[in-house]
Amino acid sequence: MKKIVTPADSYRILANGPLLMVVTLGQAGDGLRPEVSTVAWSVPIDTNPPRLAVIIDCTHRTWHSALEQGECTLNVVSRELLPRAVYAGTVSSREHDKIAETGLVTVAGSVIRTPILPQCLANIECRIVSQTAETGLVLLEPLAAFADEEAFYAGWKMENGIYPVQHLGGERFQCGGDVLIQPALNIPPAPASGR
Ligand SMILES: Cc1cc2nc3c(=O)[nH]c(=O)nc-3n(C[C@H](O)[C@H](O)[C@H](O)COP(=O)(O)O)c2cc1C
Repeated sequence: MKKIVTPADSYRILANGPLLMVVTLGQAGDGLRPEVSTVAWSVPIDTNPPRLAVIIDCTHRTWHSALEQGECTLNVVSRELLPRAVYAGTVSSREHDKIAETGLVTVAGSVIRTPILPQCLANIECRIVSQTAETGLVLLEPLAAFADEEAFYAGWKMENGIYPVQHLGGERFQCGGDVLIQPALNIPPAPASGR
Protein backbone atom coordinates (compact mmCIF):
# COMPACT_ATOMS: atom_id res chain seq x y z
CA MET A 1 0.00 0.00 0.00
CA LYS A 2 1.40 3.40 -0.97
CA LYS A 3 0.33 6.83 0.23
CA ILE A 4 -0.21 9.68 -2.19
CA VAL A 5 2.51 12.35 -2.09
CA THR A 6 1.64 15.62 -3.79
CA PRO A 7 3.94 16.70 -6.64
CA ALA A 8 4.90 19.72 -4.53
CA ASP A 9 6.04 17.42 -1.71
CA SER A 10 7.80 14.89 -3.94
CA TYR A 11 11.16 16.62 -3.35
CA ARG A 12 11.12 15.17 0.17
CA ILE A 13 11.53 11.73 -1.40
CA LEU A 14 14.84 12.82 -2.93
CA ALA A 15 16.02 15.18 -0.21
CA ASN A 16 18.55 13.12 1.70
CA GLY A 17 21.82 14.95 1.11
CA PRO A 18 23.80 15.94 4.19
CA LEU A 19 22.76 19.13 5.96
CA LEU A 20 25.35 21.81 5.19
CA MET A 21 26.56 25.01 6.74
CA VAL A 22 27.67 27.26 3.90
CA VAL A 23 30.34 29.83 4.75
CA THR A 24 30.80 32.95 2.64
CA LEU A 25 32.74 36.17 3.08
CA GLY A 26 30.41 39.11 3.53
CA GLN A 27 31.10 42.82 3.44
CA ALA A 28 31.34 44.28 6.94
CA GLY A 29 32.45 47.90 7.11
CA ASP A 30 35.68 48.23 5.14
CA GLY A 31 36.50 44.54 5.30
CA LEU A 32 35.12 41.05 4.90
CA ARG A 33 33.91 38.75 7.65
CA PRO A 34 32.98 35.07 7.50
CA GLU A 35 29.24 34.41 7.52
CA VAL A 36 27.35 31.15 7.86
CA SER A 37 23.98 29.88 6.67
CA THR A 38 22.31 26.49 6.56
CA VAL A 39 21.45 24.64 3.36
CA ALA A 40 19.68 21.31 3.08
CA TRP A 41 19.44 21.18 -0.70
CA SER A 42 22.58 20.09 -2.53
CA VAL A 43 23.35 17.77 -5.40
CA PRO A 44 26.37 16.31 -7.21
CA ILE A 45 26.27 17.51 -10.84
CA ASP A 46 29.35 16.06 -12.58
CA THR A 47 32.65 14.31 -11.84
CA ASN A 48 34.62 15.43 -14.91
CA PRO A 49 34.97 18.31 -14.49
CA PRO A 50 33.89 18.11 -10.84
CA ARG A 51 30.76 20.14 -10.24
CA LEU A 52 28.39 20.38 -7.28
CA ALA A 53 25.34 22.53 -6.72
CA VAL A 54 23.45 24.02 -3.80
CA ILE A 55 20.14 25.85 -3.83
CA ILE A 56 20.24 29.20 -2.06
CA ASP A 57 17.32 31.59 -2.19
CA CYS A 58 18.37 34.78 -3.97
CA THR A 59 16.92 36.93 -1.18
CA HIS A 60 19.39 35.52 1.34
CA ARG A 61 22.48 37.40 2.40
CA THR A 62 24.51 34.28 1.54
CA TRP A 63 23.40 34.49 -2.09
CA HIS A 64 24.72 38.03 -2.39
CA SER A 65 27.99 37.40 -0.55
CA ALA A 66 28.61 34.37 -2.78
CA LEU A 67 27.91 36.44 -5.87
CA GLU A 68 30.26 39.22 -4.76
CA GLN A 69 33.18 37.02 -3.67
CA GLY A 70 32.82 34.08 -6.07
CA GLU A 71 33.58 31.43 -3.49
CA CYS A 72 32.18 29.55 -0.50
CA THR A 73 32.81 26.50 1.63
CA LEU A 74 30.37 23.65 2.29
CA ASN A 75 30.57 22.10 5.76
CA VAL A 76 28.76 18.90 6.73
CA VAL A 77 26.77 19.19 9.97
CA SER A 78 27.31 16.60 12.71
CA ARG A 79 24.76 15.67 15.36
CA GLU A 80 26.43 17.89 17.97
CA LEU A 81 26.33 20.92 15.67
CA LEU A 82 22.63 20.61 14.78
CA PRO A 83 21.37 23.37 17.16
CA ARG A 84 23.97 25.78 15.79
CA ALA A 85 23.10 24.84 12.22
CA VAL A 86 19.41 25.47 12.89
CA TYR A 87 20.24 28.86 14.41
CA ALA A 88 22.33 29.68 11.31
CA GLY A 89 19.28 28.71 9.26
CA THR A 90 16.83 30.80 11.28
CA VAL A 91 18.39 34.28 11.41
CA SER A 92 20.24 36.28 8.75
CA SER A 93 23.80 37.59 8.65
CA ARG A 94 22.19 40.90 7.73
CA GLU A 95 21.39 41.34 11.43
CA HIS A 96 23.63 38.77 13.13
CA ASP A 97 27.27 37.73 13.33
CA LYS A 98 26.25 34.07 13.49
CA ILE A 99 29.77 32.69 13.71
CA ALA A 100 30.61 34.83 16.75
CA GLU A 101 27.22 34.16 18.35
CA THR A 102 27.45 30.38 18.00
CA GLY A 103 31.14 30.08 18.82
CA LEU A 104 31.72 28.10 15.63
CA VAL A 105 35.45 27.66 15.00
CA THR A 106 36.79 28.81 11.63
CA VAL A 107 40.07 27.83 9.97
CA ALA A 108 41.53 29.45 6.85
CA GLY A 109 40.71 27.68 3.62
CA SER A 110 43.65 25.91 1.95
CA VAL A 111 43.06 27.35 -1.54
CA ILE A 112 40.40 30.06 -1.12
CA ARG A 113 39.99 32.99 1.26
CA THR A 114 36.73 31.71 2.76
CA PRO A 115 37.30 29.67 5.93
CA ILE A 116 36.04 26.16 6.65
CA LEU A 117 34.33 24.98 9.85
CA PRO A 118 36.70 22.25 11.13
CA GLN A 119 34.19 20.97 13.71
CA CYS A 120 32.07 19.74 10.79
CA LEU A 121 32.47 16.18 9.50
CA ALA A 122 33.69 17.31 6.07
CA ASN A 123 34.53 20.52 4.26
CA ILE A 124 34.61 21.48 0.58
CA GLU A 125 36.26 24.66 -0.67
CA CYS A 126 34.46 25.85 -3.78
CA ARG A 127 34.71 28.36 -6.58
CA ILE A 128 31.35 29.58 -7.77
CA VAL A 129 30.87 28.79 -11.46
CA SER A 130 27.47 30.45 -11.89
CA GLN A 131 24.36 31.54 -9.99
CA THR A 132 20.81 31.52 -11.36
CA ALA A 133 18.56 33.80 -9.34
CA GLU A 134 15.33 32.37 -10.72
CA THR A 135 15.99 28.92 -9.25
CA GLY A 136 18.59 29.75 -6.59
CA LEU A 137 20.94 27.27 -8.26
CA VAL A 138 24.57 27.88 -7.32
CA LEU A 139 26.90 25.80 -9.50
CA LEU A 140 30.19 25.04 -7.77
CA GLU A 141 33.64 23.79 -8.67
CA PRO A 142 35.14 21.95 -5.67
CA LEU A 143 38.80 22.94 -5.35
CA ALA A 144 39.76 21.14 -2.13
CA ALA A 145 37.94 18.83 0.26
CA PHE A 146 38.61 17.30 3.67
CA ALA A 147 36.72 14.66 5.65
CA ASP A 148 37.15 13.13 9.10
CA GLU A 149 38.91 9.80 8.62
CA GLU A 150 36.72 7.92 11.09
CA ALA A 151 33.56 9.14 9.33
CA PHE A 152 34.49 8.98 5.64
CA TYR A 153 36.58 6.79 3.37
CA ALA A 154 35.54 6.83 -0.29
CA GLY A 155 32.01 7.41 1.02
CA TRP A 156 30.42 7.82 4.42
CA LYS A 157 31.48 5.01 6.79
CA MET A 158 28.03 4.40 8.23
CA GLU A 159 29.37 1.27 9.96
CA ASN A 160 31.46 3.47 12.28
CA GLY A 161 28.41 5.09 13.81
CA ILE A 162 29.24 8.68 12.86
CA TYR A 163 26.55 10.06 10.58
CA PRO A 164 25.96 13.29 8.76
CA VAL A 165 22.65 14.91 9.68
CA GLN A 166 19.90 15.03 7.07
CA HIS A 167 16.90 17.32 7.06
CA LEU A 168 13.60 15.43 6.87
CA GLY A 169 11.51 18.61 6.89
CA GLY A 170 10.40 21.18 9.44
CA GLU A 171 11.84 20.34 12.86
CA ARG A 172 12.71 16.75 11.93
CA PHE A 173 16.23 15.58 11.18
CA GLN A 174 17.79 12.16 10.67
CA CYS A 175 21.11 11.02 12.08
CA GLY A 176 21.77 7.36 11.34
CA GLY A 177 18.70 5.51 12.55
CA ASP A 178 17.65 8.32 14.91
CA VAL A 179 15.11 11.04 14.25
CA LEU A 180 16.08 14.27 16.00
CA ILE A 181 13.63 17.09 16.71
CA GLN A 182 15.21 20.52 16.60
CA PRO A 183 12.84 23.53 16.58
CA ALA A 184 13.89 26.82 14.98
CA LEU A 185 16.18 28.90 17.22
CA ASN A 186 16.04 32.70 17.32
CA ILE A 187 18.68 33.00 20.01
CA PRO A 188 22.05 31.31 19.74
CA PRO A 189 22.44 27.95 21.48
CA ALA A 190 25.16 27.73 24.11
CA PRO A 191 28.37 26.68 22.36
CA ALA A 192 28.86 22.99 22.98
CA SER A 193 32.24 21.39 23.30
CA GLY A 194 33.40 18.93 20.66
CA ARG A 195 31.83 18.71 17.24
C1 LIG B 1 17.35 22.97 8.35
C2 LIG B 1 17.38 24.14 7.40
C3 LIG B 1 17.64 23.93 6.07
C4 LIG B 1 17.65 25.00 5.17
N1 LIG B 1 17.92 24.77 3.85
C5 LIG B 1 17.96 25.82 2.99
C6 LIG B 1 18.27 25.60 1.62
O1 LIG B 1 18.52 24.48 1.16
N2 LIG B 1 18.28 26.67 0.80
C7 LIG B 1 18.00 27.94 1.24
O2 LIG B 1 18.03 28.90 0.46
N3 LIG B 1 17.71 28.17 2.54
C8 LIG B 1 17.69 27.15 3.42
N4 LIG B 1 17.39 27.36 4.73
C9 LIG B 1 17.06 28.74 5.17
C10 LIG B 1 18.30 29.63 5.37
O3 LIG B 1 19.34 28.94 6.04
C11 LIG B 1 17.85 30.85 6.22
O4 LIG B 1 16.88 31.59 5.50
C12 LIG B 1 19.01 31.72 6.69
O5 LIG B 1 18.51 32.56 7.71
C13 LIG B 1 19.59 32.60 5.58
O6 LIG B 1 20.62 33.37 6.17
P1 LIG B 1 21.41 34.52 5.40
O7 LIG B 1 20.42 35.64 5.09
O8 LIG B 1 22.45 34.92 6.40
O9 LIG B 1 21.95 33.94 4.14
C14 LIG B 1 17.39 26.32 5.64
C15 LIG B 1 17.12 26.53 7.01
C16 LIG B 1 17.13 25.45 7.88
C17 LIG B 1 16.85 25.69 9.34
